[in-house]
Amino acid sequence: MPEGQGQASGTDVFEIMHTMRAMRRLKPDPVPDELIFKILAAGQAAASGGNTQRWRFLVLKDPAKKKAVQVYYKKAFDEVVGPRYASSPPPPGSDPARYKRQHAAVEYLTDHYHEAPVWIVACLEDGANPGRTAGSSIYPAVQNMLLAARALGLGSTLTTRHTQYEKEVDAAMGVPPGYHSYAILPIGYPMGRFGPVGRGPLSDVVYLDDWGKPYPGLK
Ligand SMILES: Cc1cc2nc3c(=O)[nH]c(=O)nc-3n(C[C@H](O)[C@H](O)[C@H](O)COP(=O)(O)O)c2cc1C
Repeated sequence: MPEGQGQASGTDVFEIMHTMRAMRRLKPDPVPDELIFKILAAGQAAASGGNTQRWRFLVLKDPAKKKAVQVYYKKAFDEVVGPRYASSPPPPGSDPARYKRQHAAVEYLTDHYHEAPVWIVACLEDGANPGRTAGSSIYPAVQNMLLAARALGLGSTLTTRHTQYEKEVDAAMGVPPGYHSYAILPIGYPMGRFGPVGRGPLSDVVYLDDWGKPYPGLK
């Protein structure tokens, strides 16, 4: 591991969850395979409906394949995501300055997506017409992998924007018929530091017994 990297690692699960910000600025330095293996094993430890385990994890290091996908990722930014960021208000727990920084980081990742040394592409054998719950058998694995990366001091972000061009992108990555990619995790050593995530008050989104009824004592 390069000097000074991975220092943000820790094992307290609550600390990890509360500081697992989207890390969009990543160094191009290589990541040891042993760490990627740990992340993949954490993904496979996740639940899937009926324990069917119809997932496949395509690890991409190939610069040409990553670049081919980045072209569509950028296209989707220019067409949809950029304008949406520019015209929408800050989300709960954020403010205009923080939201601006988020937008800048999103744009940075867009331009440097393919430079992350390793991608894990989370795929699912979901058949021709996946239903509403299809993703629930792959996103637990995705979250486990993000948590594992964070625990190892590696940065990543859950990205799904590529699915706006899913046919083109899945073909570029060689995902066969019957499978679809559900998330791409660009992984690398972070340039910045992990820090607390920004969320609104929990009491705004939790109800007790009746919809809209506060849960006493919850802040
Ligand atoms: C379903 C989903 C899709 C996402 N897709 C992208 C993406 O394509 N690109 C990106 O930069 N971030 C993506 N994100 C990351 C979110 O924007 C990020 O988690 C959110 O802004 C909260 O930021 P934080 O995790 O740093 O607190 C995605 C997150 C989720 C849950």
